Amino acid sequence: ARGEDTEHVPVWCMRQAGRYLPEFREWREGKDFFETCRSPEICCELTLQPLRRFPLDAAIIFSDILVVPQAMGMNVQMLTGKGPTFTEPLKEPEDLERLQAKVDVQKELGYVFKAITLTRHKLEGKVPLIGFTGAPWTLMSYMIEGGGSVTQSKAKRWLYRHPEASHMLLKMLADVIVEYLLGQVTAGAQALQVFESHAGILGPAQFKEFSLPYLRDIARRVKDRLKEPGQDVPMIVFAKDAHYGLEDLSQSHYEVVGLDWTIDPQSARERTGGKVSLQGNMDPCALYAPKVTLGAFLPLKMLKNAVEHFLSQIRSLSNGIFSS
Ligand code: CP3
Repeated sequence: ARGEDTEHVPVWCMRQAGRYLPEFREWREGKDFFETCRSPEICCELTLQPLRRFPLDAAIIFSDILVVPQAMGMNVQMLTGKGPTFTEPLKEPEDLERLQAKVDVQKELGYVFKAITLTRHKLEGKVPLIGFTGAPWTLMSYMIEGGGSVTQSKAKRWLYRHPEASHMLLKMLADVIVEYLLGQVTAGAQALQVFESHAGILGPAQFKEFSLPYLRDIARRVKDRLKEPGQDVPMIVFAKDAHYGLEDLSQSHYEVVGLDWTIDPQSARERTGGKVSLQGNMDPCALYAPKVTLGAFLPLKMLKNAVEHFLSQIRSLSNGIFSS
C-alpha cells in the first residue's frame, strides 16, 4: 500500500469470506445476515476462514457497507435471493429529517470495532487487517433505491432535482464515515478501503460533483486526525467503473487506487503517474475460465503460482454456488 518493494505481489480478495466456503455457510446457517454482522465472535471467525485455506496476504473484516445507514436509523434487511432491502427508502428531501445526523459511532457501530479488535488479536500479526466503509454516494443510492438497481434512476433523480438535499445527505454520510473509519483504526484496522461501488452510474460531471469531493474530504479528515507517529494508516479507494476519474482519484489523498477489470493496468499506471499504488483489476468471472487459460486473465503478469493455486481452489469450491 505504501509502494514499497515486496517479495511478491500481495493478494487479497473482496468478499474473500463468503458463501463459496462450506464452513462459511455452516456458520451463517439459520442466522440473519446483519445479526451475524453484529456478533464480533462470528465476524472474527468468518474473517479468518479464508486465511486458513489460502496464502492470502491480508484479512478484510467481515461486515457490510450498509451498517452505516442502519446506524443513521434506517432499517435494512438482507433478503435471500433479493439482496439488501430497505423497508422505508428515502423518497423526498423531507425524509432526511428521519435520519440521525449526529451518530454516536461507539454506540451504534461498536460491534464492528469489537470484531476488529478481536480479529486483530487472533491474527497475531500474520497478515494485516483491512477495515472498510461504503462511500457517501454509494450509500446514498442504496438509501434512496432501497436496494440494488440497474439504472439507479431514483437516486439519480435526486441529483438532478434535489442537488442541495443530495449534498446535505452526502455531507451527513461523510461525517459519520469519518468517525466510523477513525473508530476502526483505534480498534486495530491497519488499512482502510472506501468502496464507491456505484461510481460508474454517474457520468464524469456528476462524479466530480457528487462523489469525488466526498471521497477526498473523507481521506483528508481521517488523515488529519491520525497525525501522531505510527497512527497513519494507508487508505484505498475503489470507485467502480469510474475510469474517467482515474487521474483525479490518484490525487485524492489515498495511497492506493483499486481498478476494476475494464481498465488496462498499464495505461492506468501511466495515467496515475506513479503517484499511487494500484490494486485489483481482476474480472471475477475470469474464475469461469479453464485452469490452463486462467493465467492469461490475471491482472498483473507478475502473479505467482500461489495465486493460481488459490484461484483454482476457490473455483472448485464455488462451482455449485456460481452456477446457482
Ligand atoms: O470478505 C470480505 O470481502 C468482507 C466482507 C464484505 C461484505 N460486503 C460481506 C457480505 C465486504 C467488503 C462487503 C462490501 C459491500 N457490501 C459492498 C461493496 C463492495 C461491492 O461489492 O461493490 C456492497 C455494494 C455491499 C452491499 C451488499 N451486501 C450486496 C450488494 C450484497 C449481495 C447480496 C447477495 O444476495 O449476494 C451484500 C451481502 C453480503 N455482504 C454477503 C457477504 C459475505 C453475502 C450474503 C450472505 O452471506 O448471506
